[in-house]
Amino acid sequence: MILIKLGGSIITNKEKPLTPRKKVIENIAKKLKKINEPIIVVHGGGSYGHYWSVKYDMHTKPKKYDMHGVAIVKNSMIDLNKIIVDVFVKNKLNPYSLPPTDFMTGNKPISKKIKEIEKIAKAGLIPVTYGDALWYGEKKTYILSGDKIMTHLSKILKPRLSIFALNEDGLYSDLKTKELIQELKGENPTISENKMDVTGGMTRKVEEASKIAKFGVSVFFVNGNKPERIVKAVKNRKYEGTLFRGKRNG
Ligand code: IPE
Repeated sequence: MILIKLGGSIITNKEKPLTPRKKVIENIAKKLKKINEPIIVVHGGGSYGHYWSVKYDMHTKPKKYDMHGVAIVKNSMIDLNKIIVDVFVKNKLNPYSLPPTDFMTGNKPISKKIKEIEKIAKAGLIPVTYGDALWYGEKKTYILSGDKIMTHLSKILKPRLSIFALNEDGLYSDLKTKELIQELKGENPTISENKMDVTGGMTRKVEEASKIAKFGVSVFFVNGNKPERIVKAVKNRKYEGTLFRGKRNG
């Protein structure tokens, strides 16, 4: 089992609201066809959900956010998800779209439902889910990021590899020279003030990746503009990107 998160910055143009990068999505879809293992895809919000959640000041902490904001974020994620599954279908993949309400209650994953998703993937469909605005309870809502979904799925399903497709080659030890960190063995890299992403997205990804590695699952940060690197990592176990080795995998 392989989990793949398509970051919002790769599937959309984050600089411009409501702009999908269809060609990039298509190139990724073509490469996913070459993977002969069950896969689950998670995608981010980018210039769809992420854009609107910033506009409506909505965050990951459950709170009484503007309900119109909730509606707009949710609706925009359906639009983006539709674009992705359309491209997948056109490229002869078999996506099976699942909003996170299918497997979340409040901010907790429903283990039984997630194990069902694994069965769906093993049967030859590609479950596709996404970061979203979710009901929490007591009139509160919250933003569930695609990165957090990766952590929930990794904890329960223990995939062979959890891949984050980014708009960068991986994690850089030095932002100026863009020197790539090839492998991390358990240690937490310090992202410090050198934010690679203005929204702090990279910091959160590294946090989730470190958590996932602690479950014994290896995590790979890869450039989604070079999707052949995804196939190489899965098939030849050659990692052109940043690999966080799962702790119990040695
Ligand atoms: C986006 O999920 C969730 C919403 C704001 C609706 P992510 O936080 O995983 O999205 P990206 O990948 O950073 O855009």
